[in-house]
Amino acid sequence: MEERSTMMHRDMPPLLITWLTILSIASCQSVCPARCLCYLNQIPRTIECSRQGLQTFPENISDIVEHLDLSSNFLTGITDKINRLTELQYLNLAKNQLTSLPNNLEELINLRRLDLSDNIIANTADIASINQLPSLKVLYISKNQLLDLKGLTSEVLQAVDAGHCLIKELGNASLNGLPGLTTLNLAGNPLKIIQTPVSRTLRWLDMSDCVLNYLYPDTLSGLPELEELRLVNNPTLVYSTRHLTLQHPKLKRLDVSRCNLDRPGLHGFPSLTNAYLSHNTIRILPDRIFAKNKQLMHLYLNANSLERLNASTFEDLMKLQTLDLSANNLEDVPAMTFQENIDLRLLNLSYNSLHRFPNFLSFVTSLDLSFNLISRFNANSLENMPRIRSLNLRSNQLQLLPSGLKSKTLKVLDVQKNRLVELHNNSFVELPSLQKIDLSGNRLTEAMDPDIFEHNLDLTVIRLEDNPWRCDCTQLYDTFEYLTVPVSKTVGSSLICQSPANVSGYSWEAACFDAWNTDLYYNKDRTWGMVMVSLLILVVLCGSVVSIKHTMRIKRRVLEQRRQLELSEERERLRLLHARRNHRLEEEIEDLENSAEPRINPLELIGPPSYEEAVHMPRLVHSMDALNEISVEDGILRPMSSVDNLRMKKRRTRRTKTNRKRTQSEDDLLRREERRQERIRRERNNSSGNICETIDQTQNTISRNSRVSTTRRFRRHSIVEESLESSSSKDRPKPQTPNTKKKKRRQMFRDEHVTDDEASDVQIMNFNRSIIIRELRREPRSGYRDSFVNKRES
Ligand SMILES: *[C@@H]1O[C@H](CO)[C@@H](O)[C@H](O)[C@H]1NC(C)=O
Ligand SMILES: *[C@@H]1O[C@H](CO)[C@@H](O)[C@H](O)[C@H]1NC(C)=O
Ligand SMILES: *[C@@H]1O[C@H](CO)[C@@H](O)[C@H](O)[C@H]1NC(C)=O
Ligand SMILES: *[C@@H]1O[C@H](CO)[C@@H](O)[C@H](O)[C@H]1NC(C)=O
Ligand SMILES: *[C@@H]1O[C@H](CO)[C@@H](O)[C@H](O)[C@H]1NC(C)=O
Ligand SMILES: *[C@@H]1O[C@H](CO)[C@@H](O)[C@H](O)[C@H]1NC(C)=O
Repeated sequence: MEERSTMMHRDMPPLLITWLTILSIASCQSVCPARCLCYLNQIPRTIECSRQGLQTFPENISDIVEHLDLSSNFLTGITDKINRLTELQYLNLAKNQLTSLPNNLEELINLRRLDLSDNIIANTADIASINQLPSLKVLYISKNQLLDLKGLTSEVLQAVDAGHCLIKELGNASLNGLPGLTTLNLAGNPLKIIQTPVSRTLRWLDMSDCVLNYLYPDTLSGLPELEELRLVNNPTLVYSTRHLTLQHPKLKRLDVSRCNLDRPGLHGFPSLTNAYLSHNTIRILPDRIFAKNKQLMHLYLNANSLERLNASTFEDLMKLQTLDLSANNLEDVPAMTFQENIDLRLLNLSYNSLHRFPNFLSFVTSLDLSFNLISRFNANSLENMPRIRSLNLRSNQLQLLPSGLKSKTLKVLDVQKNRLVELHNNSFVELPSLQKIDLSGNRLTEAMDPDIFEHNLDLTVIRLEDNPWRCDCTQLYDTFEYLTVPVSKTVGSSLICQSPANVSGYSWEAACFDAWNTDLYYNKDRTWGMVMVSLLILVVLCGSVVSIKHTMRIKRRVLEQRRQLELSEERERLRLLHARRNHRLEEEIEDLENSAEPRINPLELIGPPSYEEAVHMPRLVHSMDALNEISVEDGILRPMSSVDNLRMKKRRTRRTKTNRKRTQSEDDLLRREERRQERIRRERNNSSGNICETIDQTQNTISRNSRVSTTRRFRRHSIVEESLESSSSKDRPKPQTPNTKKKKRRQMFRDEHVTDDEASDVQIMNFNRSIIIRELRREPRSGYRDSFVNKRES
């Protein structure tokens, strides 16, 4: 940008140049690098490019940026173009692939925090250019491959996080280059040797999670300002022997939890206020062992192996406020142990092996005796604790709270998860300040008389859940009212009955709802209730009667409608049938007149015709009379009125219909049949011998096709049969093919098993069985060849 503006300078008027410069600056500012988020309007002006897979330092980063986050990318190097970002205060390059910093960082005059953690920097020389950063205060260089801090130089650097590197040694010159250093984190390094490092300014040093073994008494002598030393979890660390111990006149806070200490060894630290000695292997605390630590305020000795305390163990600790002795093996505490600790506020004795309430004198305000084995608890136990406010006796073995337990100050009493079976009616009488009591998880069965709390005017929380309550509703009532009115002192739904069996698992409220509520409403609402109930019953009865009537009416109407529908359908079918028959009759007449050509000549067939072909074969239609004549002529068939035939078929198909309908339709059919015959007779008179003519014509056509005479003879016969067939099939009410009909009949003959329906069929069959059998034999469709052979034989 600078280059461009100088180029412009040569041949452009100054005003224009200024404008263009401003414009280009503006555009530079407005351009946010690809895959970054820019917040340049907020303070600090921030650009975030973390987790974007960047492999190179992004271009076009606005030079007004103050916080730049390039963490979690794949950057392998930074060029000194970064010097453009003169406003930069915080540069985050953590979690990249950097091995070094550019040699020139001179322009980053505002950079205060530089995060290089989790890269692959192996040598302090590769980042030596940080000494050019005049404002650098904090350097994060943890999780790199540094072997030493030697060579790291900065006049101004105050805090260095060099945790989880590969630093094995802290020599007497290691911190020489950092004259302003106050805070140094070396946690998680394989640090084993400390050789009196020197720093005039260091105040906070963390060497937790290292492998320190032994600290000489003068190890800290080069660090005169040290206030806090953290040495947590150096599993083999020892710094104190019988005669020698680590010393520091100003050290205030020492955390040596999870080390290998068998004694506190604090007498070299006269200024100590906080000592964390948890999770060590300290077994005994000799008399006056903390006598030199007069400033001690918070002492944590939990999770050691303490078995005994001596009366003078904590003597002289006048400022002691917190003493944690939990998770040890203490079985008793001498009465005078804490008498000098006049400032004691929290004494934690939980997770020990105390069998009785310790009878010591103390000014403690909060005493934790939870998770012990205490079963005895005297009324005067609290008399020696004039300031006690909170007493935790959770998870002990108390069966009874002492009667007349006295404490003017006790506010919170926790006896959760003990074995209390009942409450003394004067256990709480002498606890005027009681605000909160936890009795949950005990074995209380009887509802207590609310009067037992009558002196505890400040009591606002009573926890009673998880007790096997016996729900005698009359007895519970007063208790429940006390617990819930005017403000709830307990969670009502947490009170669960265990007995009697019929309410086991119910809450007090649910179990006693009836009992408690009838008392209140029974008499008042009795008559009204009766009236309401009888009214209700009346209304319900009326309603159901009306609805039943209604549904019956609807059902009847539906039935009626269905019947009507069926009737009309039936009528429609009949009408269609008649129409079809009429149509066919007309066709017949037309055929007779025109003697139409056959659609498929049977002689064209090689084998017997299929059903389809048969249907399409010429249908020589004759009148019923003609059929009769032919039958007579033939001499085989008995003359039979086609009307009779028809009537029988009708009966067969319509058997299921009602009698009324059947007779109606049959009459109708009969009448129509008569009319038809009449018409056909008239027709025949007009053209007599028409059939014979037709046959002759056909024969002529055949002979013209030079067929043999036998074929001709057969053919004539077949045409006759055809006419017979068609005349019988013509009148069928349903489009039932002759084949299926035949099959049905055969079935009947074969099976001998006849249903009611078929019985009538059989009767008909018997009536003119011979005819039918012949018909079957002569059936042209399937019995083609057969009938031909028969004919020849006959
Ligand atoms: C940087 O900005 C200039 C114009 O301001 C543009 O031409 C160039 O492509 C940009 N570079 C990147 C990497 O975005
Ligand atoms: C640092 O230690 C070396 C030996 O390792 C010693 O020669 C030197 O005198 C020490 N320097 C200081 C200032 O203690
Ligand atoms: C503890 O005190 C008793 C006297 O109360 C004394 O005999 C004993 O030696 C003391 N134990 C320690 C380790 O100081
Ligand atoms: C007492 O110590 C136990 C176990 O170390 C801990 O769970 C409990 O919270 C401590 N009590 C108080 C009041 O800090
Ligand atoms: C405690 O109960 C006993 C009987 O069990 C009774 O005689 C006594 O008066 C009750 N005391 C109080 C304070 O309710
Ligand atoms: C449970 O049974 C008792 C008698 O055994 C009876 O008085 C009480 O009303 C019953 N409770 C419920 C909720 O049925």
